Amino acid sequence: MTVKLAHFSDIHLTVRPLGWRARDVFNKRTSGWVNLNALGRGLRFKHANDVTAALRKEFASRDFDQLVFSGDATALGFPSELKEAATRLGVGDATLPPGIAVPGNHDLYVRHSARDRFFEEAFASWQHGQRIGTDAYPFARKVGHVWLIALNSAKPTFLFWDATGRVGDAQLQRLRALCATLDAGPRIVVSHYPLLKEGHQVEPRWHRLHDWRAARDTVAECGVNLWLHGHRHHWYVLPPAANLPFPTICTGSSTQTNRWGYHEYRIDGGHLKGVRRVYDLATGAFIDAEQFDFDLQRQV
Ligand SMILES: [Fe+2]
Ligand SMILES: [Fe+2]
Repeated sequence: MTVKLAHFSDIHLTVRPLGWRARDVFNKRTSGWVNLNALGRGLRFKHANDVTAALRKEFASRDFDQLVFSGDATALGFPSELKEAATRLGVGDATLPPGIAVPGNHDLYVRHSARDRFFEEAFASWQHGQRIGTDAYPFARKVGHVWLIALNSAKPTFLFWDATGRVGDAQLQRLRALCATLDAGPRIVVSHYPLLKEGHQVEPRWHRLHDWRAARDTVAECGVNLWLHGHRHHWYVLPPAANLPFPTICTGSSTQTNRWGYHEYRIDGGHLKGVRRVYDLATGAFIDAEQFDFDLQRQV
């Protein structure tokens, strides 16, 4: 039994005008900071729309069973940006494979964005799955013989320098209950934040998942075999280690200039083969780059 996934992340699309009560949301100091950041970000993501169009062609042409998006669709999380990103990705386009999506910290920038579920509304057709109760996350979706579990690790932040995440005890509790309902098959978590950065190191204080230890231990208890994520814009794979009971894969930013790429995973039974495909500016298309593979071993 084979399942083929496309994993992409951190596309950071934006739109002008942002609209929607921008003056109400940001004070002068904040908007200055936003402008500075948006300018720098704009340069790094100046090809993002073209790369996203190329990505959508990949989705349509490479026989994927499922598209997997690990968050940061936008620069600032405005509803206008979220709609734009979802439209450019083809969310809701019935000719594309089904998708699964979790928000990134940038998608929850705007006050009330989490409560009002702006992300979930824009990505509604990529939110289908089994849930415990009415909370949006976690949810699980079976693709072939593989369980994909969408876990939200992003949260709104109010300090300029704060890019931290949190899964939260309540969501971890729901995850335990959800996992108890799932039948056999490899279990793969899809989340925005890494548990650990390169070299199995803990992320810097203002960039990390606060409750990474609790999240790691809970998903291990739930028999999870793999954690897929973004947030860090360089791609990397971590094998299991003393502080990590299962592998993790960061696909990096799919649209940031010269870091652009996404991953194709072919899962045969309990074996995963990954191919990293990178964007080629000259041809405007993706081409094969690195490859990696490992066994998905049951942890409990
Ligand atoms: Fe990002
Ligand atoms: Fe992020």
